Amino acid sequence: MRVVIIGTGYVGLNTAVMLAYLGNAVTCIDTNPDKVTLLKQGIVPIHEPHLDDVFASVHQRMRFTTDYAQADIPNADVIIIAVGTPSLPDGKANLTYLKQAAKALAEHLGETFTIIVNKSTVPIGAGNWVEGLIHDYYQELHPGKMKHNFNVISSPEFLSQGSALHNSFYPNRVIIGSEHAPSIERFSKLFEPIHLQNFEPPECLPRPEGLTEVPLFVCNLISAEMLKYAANAFLATKISFINEIGHLAQKVGADIDAIAKGIGLDPRIGNRFLNAGIGWGGSCFGKDTAALVAIAQEKGLDMSIVQAARDVNYQQRTWVVDTLNEKLGGLDGRRVTLLGFSFKPNTDDLRDAPSIDISRELVKRGAIVTAHDPIALDNARAQYPDLGVVYENDLSKALESPEAIILITEWPIYSTIDWAKVPKGVVLDGRNFLDTETLWQLGFDVIRFGK
Ligand code: UDX
Repeated sequence: MRVVIIGTGYVGLNTAVMLAYLGNAVTCIDTNPDKVTLLKQGIVPIHEPHLDDVFASVHQRMRFTTDYAQADIPNADVIIIAVGTPSLPDGKANLTYLKQAAKALAEHLGETFTIIVNKSTVPIGAGNWVEGLIHDYYQELHPGKMKHNFNVISSPEFLSQGSALHNSFYPNRVIIGSEHAPSIERFSKLFEPIHLQNFEPPECLPRPEGLTEVPLFVCNLISAEMLKYAANAFLATKISFINEIGHLAQKVGADIDAIAKGIGLDPRIGNRFLNAGIGWGGSCFGKDTAALVAIAQEKGLDMSIVQAARDVNYQQRTWVVDTLNEKLGGLDGRRVTLLGFSFKPNTDDLRDAPSIDISRELVKRGAIVTAHDPIALDNARAQYPDLGVVYENDLSKALESPEAIILITEWPIYSTIDWAKVPKGVVLDGRNFLDTETLWQLGFDVIRFGK
């Protein structure tokens, strides 16, 4: 099929590469000329495992442009909108990019029927809203005329950074939010190889054992939009729940990891997303929970569980700084090294990363902070040049003379540290990830969460 994808962020680019790999003719539009230049040269502008490899194998078959007029929109079978919808200060999603996309589509849609798929997380009701916008813009351009040959559907994305391409090929479901039969049929056709899992997997991304089919789940458009928020809010709440239990575990002398394992053995609870520690960050959980609370407020509802999950999450960051402050008897002038800066391993993304809030507070209280991360420091230097933190690429240098070390992100490399060579001091393991026995034997003062 001829597919046009608007936006080449995590969602757009992974989806584009996956669809190109499956044999579709994919054109990507992005308003950022630097990104488009890189993509044209075959360079992936984001860090995502295996994306480079699979992209290299399909790059010749893909097109990239900043110009809607060059994207052959009139002949597209499917147009996917995957633009960013970052949070506004009031928690609501910023729809500027979505509006720009709708306006451009109104200008360039042709005469053949096409479906427009919202993949970005949009406010509930946005699908109809996009449709309305396209109609409005179209009428501005062609007074008195109506455009009937397109239909907007919703297919929210659940890909997780660090495994985004894997999730694109092997999602646990594909949601189709539409009640329009021809649109459902066309979108299902596009995703048939994913549904039936009958494609030859990329060498670097073998199919998970036992995966024979991915459900295509059809529901109405608004339910699809809301489902995405509900999924993320549930996962975020699960993490905050275990963190709240962790505080009590610490007080009564229980072990949060044992509790998580024990309750997770009940399949009704499940063992995933029960890792206690510093809590969640990233582009979705904070943004989507904030939006859900804001949308509910508009409807006169109080999302107290989701709000509590947010409160618990952001208090974890304060807990880290307060605990270290207490342990060191003050932070002024103390040398603190942060291990990990990205919001989770295998990504260079710093959106809502706990490292930022923690660094800011440590620096405010007078600590001398050094931060290491295997790949996120270029982003840190570019996005947070004034944080007051020394960004150190060399792990051994970062570990030369700290009085305290905080493990923020559980990058695998941190499990290989030779602690015998690190000066003894306090280690706050924010992800309950390090080998505590070894640290104790070597004489480190170890703080873990919920233990
Ligand atoms: C999430 C959702 O998983 C994905 O389905 C959605 O589309 C986008 O948001 P992502 O933000 O990439 O994906 O990462 P995820 O693996 O979900 O982790 C989010 C945050 O939660 C990370 O900061 C991670 O460290 C934290 N986390 C995760 C925990 O603190 N404990 C856990 O048990 C799991």
